[in-house]
Amino acid sequence: MIDTIIIGDSTKKIKALPDNFVHAIISDIPYGICYEEWDVLHNNTNSALGGASFAQKDAGDLFKRRGKPLNGWSSADKNIAKEYQNWCSSWAPDWLRVLKSGGSCFIFAGRRYAHRCISALEDAGFTFKDMLAWEKSAAPHRAQRISEVYKRRGDSKSAEKWSGWRVANLRPLFEPILWFQKPYKTGGTLADNLLEFDVGAWNEQALSDYNQILGYSDGATQSNIIRISANKDDRGLHETQKPLKLMELLISLVTKKDAIILDPFAGSGTTCVAAKQLERHYIGMEIDETYAKIATDRLTECVNGSSKRIGVCTEISLFDIPEFDLPKMDEQRFARIG
Ligand SMILES: C[S@@+](CC[C@H](N)C(=O)[O-])C[C@H]1O[C@@H](n2cnc3c(N)ncnc32)[C@H](O)[C@@H]1O
Repeated sequence: MIDTIIIGDSTKKIKALPDNFVHAIISDIPYGICYEEWDVLHNNTNSALGGASFAQKDAGDLFKRRGKPLNGWSSADKNIAKEYQNWCSSWAPDWLRVLKSGGSCFIFAGRRYAHRCISALEDAGFTFKDMLAWEKSAAPHRAQRISEVYKRRGDSKSAEKWSGWRVANLRPLFEPILWFQKPYKTGGTLADNLLEFDVGAWNEQALSDYNQILGYSDGATQSNIIRISANKDDRGLHETQKPLKLMELLISLVTKKDAIILDPFAGSGTTCVAAKQLERHYIGMEIDETYAKIATDRLTECVNGSSKRIGVCTEISLFDIPEFDLPKMDEQRFARIG
């Protein structure tokens, strides 16, 4: 069970894990925004999702799918957020059960429905500790100039009045990382909890190693804004692949060597690879056999303990990464939120 990628539905597979077993749960969960089939977490069939307008087709891969208008086209659409929360509630109690007292849980959640995920985990018994911002240097963005619409209609007066105004969202340059903690034992203190379970605090040295390489001033070294760009190895394995260095930082922040890290939505296995490189144990769960194989192959290739310090302090300089060197498909997922 330890140091493997388990193929199957994690909401069921997790039931085989013992109570108080893992030191941290770190997962890039489906955002529920219908990005791909695995991300459709509602029963609503009255939906225009998956279609594409002519403008989207012209834009090519980046904006190939039609996102849902924020005001919704049907009353059934309004249930999508609630259904997403129900889905999170279906696994949150097991996540709490398998996590050690005082252990941390980091969840990548989309900005649109993150609040639903927070409510589900809170209801299950987690403490919502903080929301970190993973900030990127660039992200594709599409926000239509409304004056252009009026121009096409031949309405020059309105075009002039609304010149400089756009619809849709601002450029999506951050992604929330939700930080939860399992409450530590009643009657004790966090200091006691650390001694008993090896979790409950965060590693200042790991964070400052990372901040140092980015050239932050001393005052920013404990900031909850994480700036890590993807490099060329962080793409091509999964549509929503996360930078390995980012996962390494999160693991280093809340666990020590030999800890067990669980990722129930493992995708191409980035969390597990990061764990292995940092000499932690991992348990990955992935429903899609193709991704599970990719993850297993990555893990076979990766050498235990190859990155002794947090990743950002190793081979690459972040300043060498071109501004637009981002995981394209992941940004696509962002773009569709707006
Ligand atoms: C957002 S992706 C994770 C990508 C990952 N961060 C990476 O770097 O490759 C979420 C993954 O969860 C998987 N998934 C969705 N529902 C699942 C379930 N019930 N059990 C296990 N895996 C599931 C999807 O197949 C998808 O690969």
